[in-house]
Amino acid sequence: MAIPFISHRYIILLLIFLSCMQAYEQNNPTIVMIGSGYVGLVSGPGLAEIGNKVICADVDTHKIAMLEQGKLPIYEPGLEKVIAQNVAAEKLSFTADVGKAIEKANVVFIAVGTPMGEDGSADLSYVKAVAELIAQHITSYKVICTKSTVPVGTGAWIRSLLESHGVKPELFDIVSNPEFLREGSAVDDFLKPDRVVIGTETDKAREIMYNIYKPMFDAGAPYIFTTVPSSEMIKYASNGFLAVKISYINEIANLCDATGADVKTVSKAMGLDKRICPYFLNPGPGFGGSCFPKDSQALMYASEKYQVPLEVVKASLATNALQKKVPFKKLCALMHKDLQGKTIAILGLAYKGNTDDIRYSPSINVIKELLESGAQIKTFDPQAMENMKAIFSPYTHAITYCTDAYTACTGADAVMIMTEWNEFKILDLCKIASLVNNKILVDARNIIDIKELKKLGFAFDAIGRSCMCA
Ligand code: NAD
Ligand code: UGA
Repeated sequence: MAIPFISHRYIILLLIFLSCMQAYEQNNPTIVMIGSGYVGLVSGPGLAEIGNKVICADVDTHKIAMLEQGKLPIYEPGLEKVIAQNVAAEKLSFTADVGKAIEKANVVFIAVGTPMGEDGSADLSYVKAVAELIAQHITSYKVICTKSTVPVGTGAWIRSLLESHGVKPELFDIVSNPEFLREGSAVDDFLKPDRVVIGTETDKAREIMYNIYKPMFDAGAPYIFTTVPSSEMIKYASNGFLAVKISYINEIANLCDATGADVKTVSKAMGLDKRICPYFLNPGPGFGGSCFPKDSQALMYASEKYQVPLEVVKASLATNALQKKVPFKKLCALMHKDLQGKTIAILGLAYKGNTDDIRYSPSINVIKELLESGAQIKTFDPQAMENMKAIFSPYTHAITYCTDAYTACTGADAVMIMTEWNEFKILDLCKIASLVNNKILVDARNIIDIKELKKLGFAFDAIGRSCMCA
């Protein structure tokens, strides 16, 4: 009779142990971040930094090999340190075996690309591939969380995809946790967010997600728990709105050019109104990057699909297409349309400062127009030259990549400032004046000291500041 008694006790202890394990895992989940690009490679280490155990996974074996050697595949200020300290603390690791990482994880973040499809919709093929891989490897309960920017309805679509592959509904919960970081300040944006948005379907998933971000919430980060569709919509609504704001100030800048007002003063005064706020009121060569163009376009696709007019978003895209032509038009005006055989120095290739990303960069538009006009290009960007070389590889005869801004300006017939890198804000203009062939300059970012340019005898133009340039 002793044996059944022992085994009964044993079973009770085992059950207690298992329920403790479950509670432990719920409070200390292993996270896998699938996709180690600009978002996954910041969000993964960021979640480790606030105390979680994270595996960053990617199908790009070269990327993972670099990360395992302590090298970064992207340029992002401050990221190297966060990665190094969390790898050392054994809270962060990397793998190219995505399936195995899924098996180990309690929470699976999907952070793969959702680029613009040919019809303007978000291309969900990478998300689908990940969902199918999850279906193959899921054996225990997991939270499946989209960090990628995905259209409303994607969470539900992932659910049906998994179920169609025979995954039992009780094995997973779907969560949406969009990311709002900006490249160039991504680490800070992630660790000190304006808000964390989490869309959940169940209390269990909500609790798991709350625990993941708890240290951040305890430190005062605002958060919003909502439904999955609302969370998905918040991301698009935010990006669409910011894109509209930029297009609006770009149009006002162009009107300033035509009327003699100075957009710098106009936007400063507008921004002092708390309802408007000072951010995202810098006019420039049009918005670029991997997100505003594609997310605005995806909103247009949704507008068609659901037959709901989004005229403001549509206008912002049309304005942006026009704005991308403005720097080149200004250059043509200053050079009396005589660009054939001329050498133009382009300072800045990245779509904004502090990143090596050139996706939808306004510099690409300018380079194409210059090449079509028969100009030669000398260029410098502190981080983005390798990426640009890959795009313009057939034009090595027409584009020279230089080691610094001054080399790029040497012998140039005109200079164009296309990206607001800090080092371009403090250029020695006197030195540039002595190096160029012609003192002509277009400042597409409004960062150059106009008084100094005037003093040095430059013919120049900026955005919305014609009154100051004359
Ligand atoms: P990215 O192209 O830099 O990175 C995507 C990564 O996913 C790549 O490294 C790729 O190799 C990997 N990948 C593709 N398929 C995979 C698979 N099946 N398994 C594992 N890895 C796979 O893209 P990103 O800029 O990081 O953007 C990712 C998502 O985040 C997009 O939806 C984007 O809209 C959104 N987002 C981007 C930013 C940003 O600043 N870049 C900010 C917020 C949100
Ligand atoms: C943008 C959003 O700011 C992030 O919140 C969001 O997470 C991200 O998109 C995304 O979803 O990927 P990002 O594209 O990295 O971040 O950079 P931004 O600083 O927003 O700049 C986007 C573009 O707008 C750049 O080309 C920039 O030069 C331009 N911009 C920005 C202006 O022309 N004027 C401004 O005042 C601000």
